[in-house]
Amino acid sequence: MFDVTLAHHDDFRSWRDATRKHVSAGVNSRNINWIVNPPDDLFQRQNLDSTEQNTSPFKITRQRYVQLQEAFHAQDSHRFETLYTFVMALHQQDDAQIAALTPKIEALIQAGRAAVLRFRESFVKLALSGGETAPDRSIQPVFDMRGHRIFTGQAATLTRMIPSPWVVSGDTVTIRWTGSALFFSRGGLKAQNEKFQPEIAFGSGYWAQLPQLRLPVKTIPSVIPDTPMTQHHAGASKAPEPNRESRFAQLRAHAVDCAACDLCDIGTRTVFGEGRLDAKIMLIGEQPGDQEDLSGRPFVGPAGALLDQNLREVGLERARLYVTNSVKHFRFVHRYGRRLHQKPDLIHIHQCHPWLSQEISLIAPTHIILLGASAASAMLGRPVTVNRERSRFFRLGNCEALITVHPSYLLRIQDRASQDFEKRRFLSDLRLVADATAQSETQLHPT
Ligand code: URA
Repeated sequence: MFDVTLAHHDDFRSWRDATRKHVSAGVNSRNINWIVNPPDDLFQRQNLDSTEQNTSPFKITRQRYVQLQEAFHAQDSHRFETLYTFVMALHQQDDAQIAALTPKIEALIQAGRAAVLRFRESFVKLALSGGETAPDRSIQPVFDMRGHRIFTGQAATLTRMIPSPWVVSGDTVTIRWTGSALFFSRGGLKAQNEKFQPEIAFGSGYWAQLPQLRLPVKTIPSVIPDTPMTQHHAGASKAPEPNRESRFAQLRAHAVDCAACDLCDIGTRTVFGEGRLDAKIMLIGEQPGDQEDLSGRPFVGPAGALLDQNLREVGLERARLYVTNSVKHFRFVHRYGRRLHQKPDLIHIHQCHPWLSQEISLIAPTHIILLGASAASAMLGRPVTVNRERSRFFRLGNCEALITVHPSYLLRIQDRASQDFEKRRFLSDLRLVADATAQSETQLHPT
């Protein structure tokens, strides 16, 4: 019998490492005892895989890996062994077993997704609803989420929603945002106060298991004075302002040297927005891709070509618009001799936001089209499911905004019928904005 200790219920990494080791060695699921037990010694690295690194490593596809991660969050007491058995079947290419387990795995994936969503909602709701008074007055504890599991990525979102310092305390973990850095420490707030436990930064012992979320706050200069979304006047003074060009040039020049997040070290350059500075419509994408990174211009690759074509079909010429991205640097990994796109993390979206909000203030569009989930999340400050929230206008500061899919989504669809269907929906979204802006132009300049 093998005992495998996970540090917490969402300790996917330890489960993955142990599964890789034991599946390679052909250990049957019945012979593994999964134990969830936070380690006592914080500075002692979990040594699940420090035992003999035996047998051949094996691989599963990226898609399967993501499914395992999603299923892992399901609140199902047998998930560790079910997923283990599934990995064993994949490894042994046991098609009958894979087919037999697939319905169960799909149910776990759905349950895992639902658990993440529920958690996110309650995390944000509780955080915003206030909480106990902090013993240390400079720090506001926002809530105690006893019974909830901590998805550490949510903490990064919270730093954006509540920039002043806060503490989130659970049964086993306390997350502390100092206003400039995120810390995780062991124990609830009460335990911490009793034991005067020091805060522990990432990278050591138990905390090495959690994703790195230390936010280096580097200030992004404010070139545009009235940056908050609520202060600009959409469509106001559309007559060219004498200094709009120079303010834009200044903003862009500052962005060239932006080093607010780690992406500045990997890409070629900052890819800033471009287009008409008096545009009524602004399009916001996710981040530059390979070709944008090389050319320094947004949406010039395949997704850009598709976007231009669709815009033309609804009578919107790109030359009349302003086009930008939520994140201004290309994030990628090197694989097979190519630079493969990687989604930006929340921290990248968060760190880049001041540029985007200054662009919006300067351009003052009347309408904003948010292309895909990253752009929508960047502007709404919360996770967004595009299909649930697309195709309708909502107020964003002084603009009307509309969420639709990212053109690269259309590029990825394989079958012709779905491609046509999704293209029609995309065109209809773009047409909503084209019609709305045409109307507002008529109202401004009645014939
Ligand atoms: N995808 C984006 O979101 N932006 C670009 O500029 C290119 C591709």
